[in-house]
Amino acid sequence: MFEVRPSSDASEFGRAVDAIGQYFAGPLTEERIDRFKQVLPFDRMHAAFEDGEIVGGAGAFPFQFSVPGGVLPCGGVTVVGVYPTHRRRGVLRAMMDAQLRDIHEREEPIAALWASEETIYGRFGYGLAAWCGEITLPRTWTAYAQPLERRGRVRFVTPEEAAMLFPPVWEALMRERPGVFQRTKAWWELRRLRIPDEEKANPVRLVVLELDSSVQAYAIYRQLPSFEGGSSNARLDVSEVIGASPQATAEIWRYVLDIDWYATLECSLLPVDHALFTLLANPRRARYRMADSLWMRLVDVGAALSGREYASDGSIVFDVRDAVCPWNEGRWKLEGGSAARTDAAADIALDVGELGSAYLGAVSFAQLRDGLRLEELSDGAVQRADAIFEWRPLPWCPEIF
Ligand SMILES: CC(C)(COP(=O)(O)OP(=O)(O)OC[C@H]1O[C@@H](n2cnc3c(N)ncnc32)[C@H](O)[C@@H]1OP(=O)(O)O)[C@@H](O)C(=O)NCCC(=O)NCCS
Repeated sequence: MFEVRPSSDASEFGRAVDAIGQYFAGPLTEERIDRFKQVLPFDRMHAAFEDGEIVGGAGAFPFQFSVPGGVLPCGGVTVVGVYPTHRRRGVLRAMMDAQLRDIHEREEPIAALWASEETIYGRFGYGLAAWCGEITLPRTWTAYAQPLERRGRVRFVTPEEAAMLFPPVWEALMRERPGVFQRTKAWWELRRLRIPDEEKANPVRLVVLELDSSVQAYAIYRQLPSFEGGSSNARLDVSEVIGASPQATAEIWRYVLDIDWYATLECSLLPVDHALFTLLANPRRARYRMADSLWMRLVDVGAALSGREYASDGSIVFDVRDAVCPWNEGRWKLEGGSAARTDAAADIALDVGELGSAYLGAVSFAQLRDGLRLEELSDGAVQRADAIFEWRPLPWCPEIF
């Protein structure tokens, strides 16, 4: 009923992106389209047409994405929207279908997204695969449990310097943790470091930590001043703090926590196993609130399973159900770190979304079994699968895309 195809020029691209603009970002200017197309190529923005009119859009960033022990090409699904005039007529379904086929043809074995509504994507084979949370920490409770010997030096940098100095630190994070996508030069400049006009009066501050003669950590934050009863009630809004080593992480966070004149520090998108929670003497005071982070979709089950490393070499047979990408359906044997089709009896039967949930190591098969989300067909299969898939540290995606 609807034709869905990649947008072919700036006008189609703009109208397809503007479907989500109906709900989120407001009207698209030419300048915004120009910026956006530098990170999202036209042919990665699908548009849905009815009688020649664009009625929806769905994009996929061409990511390189860290998985346990490696990096895989990944469709980073974004700006999914349907014009309110055409809701609940199957436009989203048609777009998801076309987009997943496109991702498959491009040989990106996985797709990932942040869900604006958690009710939408399970039906398309995405599973909740990482957690994150926010903290609100009063300045009075920022002491570390143990003394920290500070060896590094913190200095301010311009956005231009940051574009050179931050990426190696981010890439160290990418090697350490699953769930991180590589930021291109354009991404750093246009999406991470660009200061929008409305923030120019009080822009983010950019600092690096130099340690052992190299940049090993950075922080991006902003003071939001306010007063109550004559006293400062300011918030320190911390948008990204990354260290390339435990020492660097401890030092850069110490710098941020010690900044004067804020009452409360706020930071979001932190993983449950972030170093801050053991560095702080009283982590309870940060009032960590957990929510879902990445949703993962195994677009090519065999390539995705073979593309990550495992905690052990054991073998396990999955019987996978996948109504949206039927090429994944059936039995897959994972053995010695690689997956292939098999006729052997299955140990675990599950929907592809549940396999996506387990993929990065944040959700165990035992949790999925206890949540009635898989069938354990042979004795001890869940325990065996967990011994194979377990991975630390947990996945962390520090940016919503
Ligand atoms: C969410 C949105 C994309 C849905 O598009 P749509 O074309 O109305 O969806 P479809 O008609 O293709 O529905 C497909 C299925 O998803 C379900 N569905 C759609 N939107 C849903 C929602 N918000 N919550 C729960 N279920 C939803 C439909 O009921 C249908 O289910 P079924 O297959 O069991 O019948 C659209 O309403 C929209 O643009 N919303 C605002 C922006 C947004 O939230 N985008 C997601 C950004 S990541």
